[in-house]
Amino acid sequence: MATTVLIGAQWGDEGKGKVIDFLARDAKWVVRFQGGNNAGHTVKPGGETYVLHLIPSGILHEGKRCVIGNGVVVDPLALLREIEELRAKGIESLGRLFVSDRCHLIYPWHRMIDECREKQRDDKTKIGTTKRGIGPAYSDKAARVGLRMADMVDPAYEAMLMKTLQETACALKAMGAEEIDIKAVAAEQLAVAKALAPFVTDTIPLLNEAVKNGEEILLEGAQGTMLDIDFGTYPFVTSSNASAGGACTGTGISPARITRVIGTIKAYTTRVGTGPFPTELHDDTGKLLGSRGREFGATTGRPRRCGWFDAVVARYSAAVNGIDYWAMTKLDVMDTLPVIRICVAYECDGKRLEHVPANIRMLERCKPVYEEMPGWQEPTEHIRTFDGLPEKAKNYVNRLCELTSVQLGLLSIGPGRDSTIRIAI
Ligand code: IMP
Repeated sequence: MATTVLIGAQWGDEGKGKVIDFLARDAKWVVRFQGGNNAGHTVKPGGETYVLHLIPSGILHEGKRCVIGNGVVVDPLALLREIEELRAKGIESLGRLFVSDRCHLIYPWHRMIDECREKQRDDKTKIGTTKRGIGPAYSDKAARVGLRMADMVDPAYEAMLMKTLQETACALKAMGAEEIDIKAVAAEQLAVAKALAPFVTDTIPLLNEAVKNGEEILLEGAQGTMLDIDFGTYPFVTSSNASAGGACTGTGISPARITRVIGTIKAYTTRVGTGPFPTELHDDTGKLLGSRGREFGATTGRPRRCGWFDAVVARYSAAVNGIDYWAMTKLDVMDTLPVIRICVAYECDGKRLEHVPANIRMLERCKPVYEEMPGWQEPTEHIRTFDGLPEKAKNYVNRLCELTSVQLGLLSIGPGRDSTIRIAI
C-alpha cells in the first residue's frame, strides 16, 4: 500500500485531473494539499464532463474518501457551490468529504484585493492571476490575521467575522476598491458556515490513522512546480507550495510516510498568465498545439500559451520533487507534427545553462538550445500498449525520459479514461 504524491511538473494544466481520476481507482483516500479554487481539474468519467475546483476528483468514485487538507485556502461560497453541483448530479459529498479545520478562508474581499492589485500592475508586471483571492488569503495566513475553518465553526464566529469585516472595509476604502455591504456579506457567510459545518473536522488524525492502517492514499497537487512560490518563476507564481514538499505541510503526513512521487508532465509545454516561458511558440505550431490540445484554462477559460517540451524545466522539477515516475499526457496532440523540437539547455548571455536561473530577467533572456526529432504523423489515441505506438513516438517519449532521468509510469494519449497506457504505476 502506498502514499502517493502526484504533482504538476510544469506550469500547471498538465492533465493532473485525468491522471488523478485514473489513480484514484486504487486509492481509498484522495487529498488536496494546497492552492484553492484557482485549480480546475477536468475529468470525463463515462463521457460526462466534470470540472472540479476544490473537491478532489476522487469524489466521482463511489466509496472513496476525499480530504481538503490544511494547506488549502477555501472559499466557502465556492465549496458549497461545488458540493451542491455534485449533489444535483446525484453525487453526495457528506460523509465522504472531510475539510480540515486548519484551512484558511477566502472571503469576497480577498477576491476584490486580488483584482485591485492586478489592475494596479502594468502589462509587464501583471501576474495574470485567476482573481479567486488566492494570493491575498495566503498573505493573511502569513501575516497571522486570517480566519480558519476552526473559527468558522466556533460559536464566536459571528463576532470574529464582524471585526474582520469592519477592519477590511477601511482597508478596502484606502485601496480605492468597491465598498462592501458588511451586513449582506456577513449574512451570506454565516449561512454558508452553517451549511459547511458538517464537513469540517480535524483531518490530521484521520489521515495519520489511514497511513498507520496501510490504506492507499493519493495526495493531489494543484497548479505546477513552476508556479510554486519557492521553486517557480517568482513573482509570476501562485502563493502556495505546489511541489511535493507541500503535500506534507499541507496535510500533516510526515515526509517519512510518502512512498512515491509521480510527476504529471505534458509532452509539450503550456502556461497561462504572464511570466517567462523560454520555449513558447508564437507561430502556427503553437496555434496547432493550442487547438488540437484544447488549451483553454479550466477555471478562467483563458487561452494557454504553448511551446516545445523544456527538458531544463523537467529536470529541475524532477529534482525538487524527487519524481519517481512520469505520468506523461497529451502525446496524441503532437500526432500531426512533421518535426518535433526538445529544449535540452538554455543559452544566456553567451553561456550554456543546464539549470533554471532564479533571476527572472535572466530567464527572460534565455534562448532554448534545441534538439530535433522526426514526428510520427500517425494517430495514436486508439493505441493501448507502449509497444503498439509508432516507433518515432516511442523514440520521442524515451528521449524525454532519458533527458530527465525519470522512468515512464503512465502515458495518456487522449482525454478519455481508456486512452491511457499504464506502464509502471
Ligand atoms: P493565482 O493562483 O490565481 O494567484 O494565480 C497566479 C498564477 O498561477 C497565474 O499565472 C495563474 O494563471 C496561475 N495559475 C493558478 N492556478 C492555476 C492552475 O490551476 N493551472 C494553471 N495555472 C494556474
